[in-house]
Amino acid sequence: MLHFTAMRRKLIAANWKMYSPPEGWDAADSPYKPDVGADIVIFPSFLDVRRLMDAKLVVGGQGGRAEPHGAFTGDVSMAMLKGAGCQYVLCGHSERRKYYKETDAAIAEQVTAAIECGLHPILCVGETKKEHDAGKAKAAVKKQLQAIPLSSYFLLPTSYSLSIAYEPIWAIGTGVNALPDDAQAMHMSIRSLLPKESRESTRIIYGGSVTDLNAADFLAHPDVDGLLVGGASLEPKRFQSIVAAALEI
Ligand code: 13P
Repeated sequence: MLHFTAMRRKLIAANWKMYSPPEGWDAADSPYKPDVGADIVIFPSFLDVRRLMDAKLVVGGQGGRAEPHGAFTGDVSMAMLKGAGCQYVLCGHSERRKYYKETDAAIAEQVTAAIECGLHPILCVGETKKEHDAGKAKAAVKKQLQAIPLSSYFLLPTSYSLSIAYEPIWAIGTGVNALPDDAQAMHMSIRSLLPKESRESTRIIYGGSVTDLNAADFLAHPDVDGLLVGGASLEPKRFQSIVAAALEI
């Protein structure tokens, strides 16, 4: 188990949601820059993708449609994100599921399209407060995962590359994070559901009220391969501490 864990490079992702880049994002000592010790990926608004890439940051789209183009006012496609130079894309973030009614089926199509065009999707899963309180968190996450044809990705010509973000919905933006031990247990459960061929190589990251104060506690767990950070990623100093915690592991 240990040597497989060591194979998984830590992934620290900043989801800036519908916020502009924070002041100092492009400073000489910017914590958003790539690092040799971990993958640091920034998810800005679509309008900011270009200037972050010009500043040599590793950038992802906060979402994208599976269709390469078409009459979908207000959307961008996976192919367009790839064409613009993005390397990653978020699929199935709970805010997309909630506000845009994205279904498991649509999310499955997005993940497939992203992999086909050479983007690295981060598939977001997570249970509601109600499911959590009813002890149904693992079942809810299992259902979301089973909607994605994970095994079929081995058949695609592009190299297989997908990460999973466990983001309990009740922990997002609330200041109430999951207990790191509970996140570890969920990550193990998620890993057990992955196709055998990719089980040990797939990164499973945690998101939901991650801060500079709890990042190291999460990262100390063997199945927590990184963090997807919202609010705290908009504060360069805090994000810097989170990155530092990943580099120290
Ligand atoms: P917060 O870190 O603000 O809870 O947001 C988490 C999130 O949704 C990242 O995608």
